[in-house]
Amino acid sequence: MSGMPLSAASLYDRVQRVIPAIEWPAFSGDIDAILKLKRERNAVILAHNYQTPEIFHCVADIVGDSLALARKAMEVEADVIVLAGVHFMAETAKLLNPSKTVLIPDMAAGCSLADSITPADIRLLRQRYPGVPVVTYVNTSAAVKAESDICCTSGNAKAVVESLGVPRVLMLPDEYLAQNIAKQTDVEIIAWKGHCEVHERFTPADIREMRAAHPGVTVLAHPECPPEVVAEADFAGSTAAMSDYVGREKPARVVLVTECSMSDNVAVEHPDVEFIRPCNLCPHMKRITLGNIRSALERNEHAVTIDPAIAVRARLAVERMLTV
Ligand code: 13P
Ligand code: SF4
Repeated sequence: MSGMPLSAASLYDRVQRVIPAIEWPAFSGDIDAILKLKRERNAVILAHNYQTPEIFHCVADIVGDSLALARKAMEVEADVIVLAGVHFMAETAKLLNPSKTVLIPDMAAGCSLADSITPADIRLLRQRYPGVPVVTYVNTSAAVKAESDICCTSGNAKAVVESLGVPRVLMLPDEYLAQNIAKQTDVEIIAWKGHCEVHERFTPADIREMRAAHPGVTVLAHPECPPEVVAEADFAGSTAAMSDYVGREKPARVVLVTECSMSDNVAVEHPDVEFIRPCNLCPHMKRITLGNIRSALERNEHAVTIDPAIAVRARLAVERMLTV
């Protein structure tokens, strides 16, 4: 972008459909401060699709699903990366671009999937299923990735599983993602019992009620939802795939069966689409605010570090994924 630097005043137009004017003054001071700090510190902000619109549309430089954020983190040339998302995303950025300072505004922004499995669990699974490759979802700690053969995201899970050329894989830790992918491939998938606390709460009855209340609604679901929920949807895909679907198909009414901020962020780009809004909040994603992004840049907090012995092995698993 050339000419005048961006300012909060010039950005409100972008988000006026999803942020009421009365709320804007609470954001504009932090937005101006963050825009200035990014220039001073040569920093970029990477934001996941579940970040609130004042972050996603007003201060982020790069937005996307987990896969896009990983790919783009690798290419960042700025000195500092602020990851507006959860801890595993910041760790992945650090793994792929280790010379950069990677900051996460709140260290407690975790993930129920990442918490559901430990490196020791993987070592035990390898004893139980000798020779079966371990595919781990990127929603895991670096220490768990280090015990894995290859990572995947919801955007590439089927391709990753099939790239291994084997009849059977362990796919960890998301049981529902594993079951949803198992329906699309001949590869036998052994799952773990981890769940996303946001997506596990949707039920098939929720979807039927939405269809009854909003005739003609197109239902898009994230594959972390239980398979019975995905079966009721018109389409299932990663957060980026859902967003692309809306742009491509332009449904008259749509419901995104996922985290709440997704609809706000996608609605900004598609004023002609009616968004039906039942959704669940991710308490971890919601820990990131303009206020703590600003202090992250002011105080250089909280820098993500990874034990070098773990990083070497974890990086291999992520890099293998990126070649698929
Ligand atoms: P995506 O990779 O689809 O963005 O999903 C990340 C996530 O945390 C979903 O709950
Ligand atoms: Fe983890 Fe679910 Fe939150 Fe995504 S939405 S970060 S999978 S708890």
